[in-house]
Amino acid sequence: MLAIIGGSGLSRLDSLEVSHRQLPETPYGEPSAALTFGRIAGRPAVFLARHGDEHRIPPHQVNYRANVWAIAGCAPAGIVAVAAVGSIRADLEPGDLVIPHQIIDYTWGRESTYHEWPERPVAHVDFTEPYDQRLRSRIGQVAATLGLAVSDSAVYAATQGPRLETAAEIDRLEREGADVVGMTGMPEAALARELALPYAAINVVANRAAGRGGSRQAIRIDDIHAVLDAAMGRVRAIIEALVTGDD
Ligand code: HPA
Repeated sequence: MLAIIGGSGLSRLDSLEVSHRQLPETPYGEPSAALTFGRIAGRPAVFLARHGDEHRIPPHQVNYRANVWAIAGCAPAGIVAVAAVGSIRADLEPGDLVIPHQIIDYTWGRESTYHEWPERPVAHVDFTEPYDQRLRSRIGQVAATLGLAVSDSAVYAATQGPRLETAAEIDRLEREGADVVGMTGMPEAALARELALPYAAINVVANRAAGRGGSRQAIRIDDIHAVLDAAMGRVRAIIEALVTGDD
């Protein structure tokens, strides 16, 4: 069974024939929303809306530990996380889909590990490759089979939000090697690794990052919503094919 974490623009999966919903208590409190269990074309999947059902929880207040813990309790084969990003790399346009391969974490003050004294022993998990390679290539293969273009590598910069970045901050992120920027990729990916859950992301480019291209003067939030609405059909198609091809 695959687990899907939906971000901005994907707060539910229409194709999921829902069997039940469950709001588990975790040692870290409640997840953002109830876990939604169901089937797509007969294959099981579980879905969680990262920002809550009504999209009410901003990125820095998401209870990432509870979310990933709750999902781990279902023992999924892996987590596919969907998240909107701004594009720093010039060839990535609004509406493009990206499968990131690396992360730079600029977030702060978030509860970002399960390995805290005295509950758990000190541990330093390996995070050299933050995303699961097998899951990443499966996403790429499925997209190719559907005839959908995806960019198969990008360095994801995780910023704190909820405000968007300044143009100078984006220049800095570019100098430091980032291709896309978003607010929710961390600590989600690291927590999944701590629980040994294969994790990969599908990033949807919602806008050019601050100071770039059409965002040279400002980022227009209305445009972001329109782009995400238009792109999510392709994301849903990829997720459906992933779930139905899951073994
Ligand atoms: N910056 C950070 N997060 C984002 C952006 C952005 O430009 N667009 C969508 N999520």
